[in-house]
Amino acid sequence: MSILVTGGTGYIGSHTAVELINNGYKDIIIMDNLCNSSDNVIDKIEKITGIRCKFYEADIRDEKALDKIFSENNIDAVIHFAGLKAVGESVKKPLEYYDNNVNGTIKLLEAMKKYGCKKIVFSSSATVYGDPGVSKYVEEMGRGNPSSPYGETKAIIEEMLESLYRAEPDWTISLLRYFNPIGAHKSGLIGEDPKGIPNNLMPYIQKVAIGELKEVSVYGDDYETKDGTGERDYIHVVDLANGHVKALEKLTTPGIYVYNLGTGNSYSVLEIIKAFERVNNVKINYKIAPRRPGDLSRFYADPTKAKRELNWEATNRNRRYGT
Ligand code: NAD
Ligand code: UD1
Repeated sequence: MSILVTGGTGYIGSHTAVELINNGYKDIIIMDNLCNSSDNVIDKIEKITGIRCKFYEADIRDEKALDKIFSENNIDAVIHFAGLKAVGESVKKPLEYYDNNVNGTIKLLEAMKKYGCKKIVFSSSATVYGDPGVSKYVEEMGRGNPSSPYGETKAIIEEMLESLYRAEPDWTISLLRYFNPIGAHKSGLIGEDPKGIPNNLMPYIQKVAIGELKEVSVYGDDYETKDGTGERDYIHVVDLANGHVKALEKLTTPGIYVYNLGTGNSYSVLEIIKAFERVNNVKINYKIAPRRPGDLSRFYADPTKAKRELNWEATNRNRRYGT
């Protein structure tokens, strides 16, 4: 089975390529325009797995490049990670986000259709739930209003894929809604290494740990949560990657399938900082700062549907971080 991984040199895509290979899918084709990653990730995947993925440096909006990739390979399924993901940046550059994420996905789907490849796994996000007024997110709740243009692109792509399925019910489409991915492959060769100052909590903590940044600003300590700081469902990236393998394997009949990929637990910002300190035996300087606009106090996944239908669950689900 030949699988095209768009955005495959990125954080989640590279871990997914490794897990696909570990599960016997040796024919992996990666396309990435390298706007947020490096092609040396291909070497690193090879170092970890012993298999070299075929790599195309290409943009998903480039129809000619897509033609080349699909005509040179007999692609059976696409796992679609390519996209821009910085929430704050999307507020400042909305058109770039709609063009890259939405327009890019349209081009990709057109190429898939042209070459008769009708199986796609899409990287969606918990952000599509908007602010539903409850903390535990269940798939049946449906989409709300995402708080940023980035989130809107995810919701629009989900809608677009639903419309496509209604019009052409021979597609097999999985919408995987990620909660908060963290961590890295145990080899230490691949991981999250965003360009510039990170927006997300874990890469920020990492940069403080290595002395690149001075301290973590903890955005708010007056939420109605266990210690006043925001709570999230942090999921290990290798668990997340395995969710994609399961989606490919289990979803073999045409349909549109939606799953939360999270642990079902929530941890506060201070718990994460303390766990990081304990495990790595380092001190993380932090200060309490005002709430970040648009942040919710607490949310986490109800992951039971993925467990029931995909036989997938996060392995760190019932463990305390760092113990
Ligand atoms: P990432 O930036 O590490 O990976 C995305 C990859 O896509 C990068 O390598 C980038 O160079 C590539 N890319 C971007 N635009 C492209 C284009 N037009 N053509 C080709 N390649 C392009 O991000 P990630 O954390 O691995 O996220 C992967 C996907 O998962 C994204 O769609 C993201 O929105 C989604 N997601 C991520 C998170 C998260 O917290 N990391 C949460 C929910 C959803
Ligand atoms: C953010 C995005 C969301 C995206 C998700 C995963 C927003 C509003 N939402 O979610 O759309 O799907 O990333 O990429 O940006 N925190 C600090 N200090 C920091 C950074 C974060 O205290 O320097 C806190 C936040 O207030 C939050 C928690 O840490 O309580 C996690 O934040 P973050 O990693 O940015 O993820 P989300 O806000 O959950």
